[in-house]
Parts: sequence; C-alpha cells; structure tokens
Amino acid sequence: MKTIDSIRKLYNAIGVHPTTDPDNSKSKSTIDRYTKHLSKLIQPGMRVLDLGCNAGRCTFAMEDMGAIPTGIDCAEIPILHAKKVAKKRKSQCQFNIGDLSALPYREDSFDLALFPSNIVEISYETMENLTVQLKQILSNKGLFVVFMHDEFIKRVGETAFLDRYDSLNGSVAGHSTIPDQGMFYYPSYFWTVAFAKYIIEKHLICRRVEQIEDNLFILVFCNKKGS
Ligand SMILES: C[S@@+](CC[C@H](N)C(=O)[O-])C[C@H]1O[C@@H](n2cnc3c(N)ncnc32)[C@H](O)[C@@H]1O
Repeated sequence: MKTIDSIRKLYNAIGVHPTTDPDNSKSKSTIDRYTKHLSKLIQPGMRVLDLGCNAGRCTFAMEDMGAIPTGIDCAEIPILHAKKVAKKRKSQCQFNIGDLSALPYREDSFDLALFPSNIVEISYETMENLTVQLKQILSNKGLFVVFMHDEFIKRVGETAFLDRYDSLNGSVAGHSTIPDQGMFYYPSYFWTVAFAKYIIEKHLICRRVEQIEDNLFILVFCNKKGS
C-alpha cells in the first residue's frame, strides 16, 4: 500500500482526537508551543497554508493571528470536522482534501506555508517534491516554516528501533491499534534537522534553524522567485 493510503486510513480511523480538535481546550497546549513562534512571522492579511492540517487546530490559530488560512490534508474525516468548526465560528478558513505530493494551488497563492511536526510521515522524495511545489505557490519572499523533532535525538538508545528501520530508504515500520477499528500499519521516516535543512535548502533559502525546546526545532526558509 502507498504511504499516503496508509496515512489516510490511519487518520480517518483516529477521527477527531480531543488533543487535535480545535473545539476542545485540550488542543491548546501544543498549539501554544507553536503560536508563540508563529506570531512573530505572521502579519495580518498574510495568505497562509497549513500543510497536513488535520482538524485545523493550527489553521484556526493562524486566523486568530490575522492571517487568511487554507488547510490541506489527505484524511477526509478530520477535514469534514474542520469545515463544521469553521461554519460554527463563522471563520473564513478554507479546508481542502489533498496530497502534499500534488498541491492543487496556483503560482503565488500563499505568503507562508506551515509544516507543523508532521515531517516523519513523509518520505525524503515527498519533501523535496513539496519544496519544489512551494517555490511556485509561495509568493516572492514567501516563508516555509517547519516545526520538527530530530529522530536521532529521539531514538538514541532505542535498540528495538533498528529492527524496524530500512537503511535503503530511511523508513521505519510502525503500527497502531485504534479501539474498535483494528490495527493500522504505516511507515514513518528517519528525519534529522540537518537532513531536512539540506533537502529544503536545495530549493528555498534558509533563514533560521533554532532549537526551541528539548527536542523541538523551528526551521524557516524563504522563497526567491527566479533563483
Ligand atoms: C500528526 S497529524 C498533525 C495534524 C496537524 N498539523 C495538527 O497539528 O493538528 C499529521 C497530519 O498530516 C496528514 N498527512 C500526512 N501525510 C500527508 C500527505 N502526504 N498529504 C496530505 N496530508 C498528509 C495526516 O493525514 C494528518 O492529519
């Protein structure tokens, strides 16, 4: 099964979790960790794209900062919930179902694209492909903001991990059991901060890489059309 299909099935099975539901105060604590950094980058009126938005907790948070957000995700159930919350809040946020490998947006559609802690779910090829697309759909000087953990820091000393790791493509086999839904198998990918920077920097200009918590990093890249 393709990675995108296994991810879609997994997140549709998870549905809307209290910690990711923008309508639930339990989703606030993670969001606050991002928003204090994002609020320094977002200007009112900016067109922003939330990549892998799930039920939209980051998307709505960016609207609260004055941005005009769009969220995209491959899982239909969380997106349907995000649309319901948008209606209830009379929000202008737009939500689309789609794959990060083939974004349905025209050139110069956004001033900032956010990728919040989803990096382990995409392969190295998908990240490079996404970065090439962002070069087109971001405005000149548009920003690409990534929040990520470093898998090397996370996995040090975890010997069982080696049995699941495929050195040829960096994938790590994983599974989750979702109550009443069964077992879901999906790969994740071994991402380090240095490797993410290396891949994204092939197409966008690196502005900042900073460790903002124990194992949480912010990476900010800038677009420059025609370079
Ligand atoms: C860990 S969740 C995070 C959701 C959201 N960013 C948040 O903070 O609540 C990752 C999301 O990325 C989505 N996703 C992963 N790979 C994707 C892809 N290739 N295309 C579209 N969505 C993807 C999943 O469906 C899932 O909803």
